[in-house]
Amino acid sequence: MQTFGCQMNVADSNGLAHQAWSMGCTFVADPALADIMILNTCAIREKAETRVYGRLGQLKLFKDARPDSKLLVCGCLAEKDREIMRSKAPWVDALLGPRDYRQFKRLLDRWGVATDSPPADAIFTMPSAEDDPGHDSHQAYAHLRALVNITRGCEKFCTYCIVPYTRGPLESIDPEEIEAQIRREVKAGAKEIMLLGQNVNSYSHDSGLDFAGLLVRLKAIEGVERLTFLTSHPKDFDRAVVDALAELPNAAPRMHLPMQSASNAVLEKMARLYTIEEYLDKVAYFRERLPGWALTTDIIVGYPTETEADFEKTLEVVGAGTFEQAFIFAYSPRAGTPAATMTPQVPQAEKIRRLQAVNAAQNDATRRFHESFIGDTVRVLTQGPSKKDATRMAGKTGHNVTVVYPRDARTEHRAFVDVEIDQAYNWGLSGIVA
Ligand code: 5AD
Ligand code: SF4
Repeated sequence: MQTFGCQMNVADSNGLAHQAWSMGCTFVADPALADIMILNTCAIREKAETRVYGRLGQLKLFKDARPDSKLLVCGCLAEKDREIMRSKAPWVDALLGPRDYRQFKRLLDRWGVATDSPPADAIFTMPSAEDDPGHDSHQAYAHLRALVNITRGCEKFCTYCIVPYTRGPLESIDPEEIEAQIRREVKAGAKEIMLLGQNVNSYSHDSGLDFAGLLVRLKAIEGVERLTFLTSHPKDFDRAVVDALAELPNAAPRMHLPMQSASNAVLEKMARLYTIEEYLDKVAYFRERLPGWALTTDIIVGYPTETEADFEKTLEVVGAGTFEQAFIFAYSPRAGTPAATMTPQVPQAEKIRRLQAVNAAQNDATRRFHESFIGDTVRVLTQGPSKKDATRMAGKTGHNVTVVYPRDARTEHRAFVDVEIDQAYNWGLSGIVA
């Protein structure tokens, strides 16, 4: 099993993996040994699609070598390219979109997986994630963080976005179910709980419970050392949420609030439903009530009709150090969305120039943020051995900053490690165990 894309996909993969395991499947790191290969895919930008099709080309070789093996493609690209996939990758045996996972067990049953119970000696281990097939050194730490869906789908229909088409309308999950899952995860060792939704602020349960109310309710659950959530929408994100966060003893001090653009003309074309003034007002209240938190954002440059003046507004807000971190994307047309046919489209070279300029401005702000930790002792939740340097461990602070520190018998077996920071980089921090 291999997963591309967002945390939502990772959460879905966890669910599918657990179902497969409960029917008697075990996971192998090498696709050459697999009876069933599952690719959980992403369609958010063209690049994500290209990588999936590249991987499908490689998996064909494994299928050719083992003609009885099966290949299942799920996720957003399975939904979006349902027809195209048949001609582009006819060796795929089955497609399940994000709303079809109820059919997963039936499919496995059809493929001869039918014991309906895990093998007696099997331990449930998570299969590897994106870019990392077969990399298992983080598996031993995966249980420390749990992803818990609170909503599914999205009805915002931002004009560039494919998600409402692939994931369907908004559903809010019952609070009892959310609480039960959090309790299960804590029992299984989770220290950090990440509440997930395309727009968590649109959480709205029949009982009248909204997102702020849900946060307050989750306060009662013991053992959650860090509570965090993804993603917020600036239209629905309000003071009540900030106030609720200020009351939570265990909220991780970070908040992701996608701005997308600082030009009102572009925001309107994107159908984002807020102005930049409203956005910055909400940020000001957030900064006032939650000092010391990290604010991160998503930005799209080169949106259709984006002028140099529009772009400079975005550059200015980023250059002012508004964000501790930003994920900046060149606009990628998604067939079937309104923006794909808007004119004029921005030439690719110009998109790249704008991307690099905003990235450079953000890198300065990010480095300043990281440098502010030098000399401090920070609590780090372990992720596992550093992928770049096996003599070190890596983990994340409550702000979600990556920290590397020496690997030894002591640090390898601890969930949390206190690290004294001595170096700051663009990508994060390094230090010694305090
Ligand atoms: N092109 C570029 N970026 C996009 N995003 C969503 N759709 C597109 C697209 N068509 C970005 C948005 C969103 C993030 C998850 O991906 O910034 O917040
Ligand atoms: Fe896409 Fe907008 Fe929904 Fe986010 S809120 S998933 S960007 S449509």
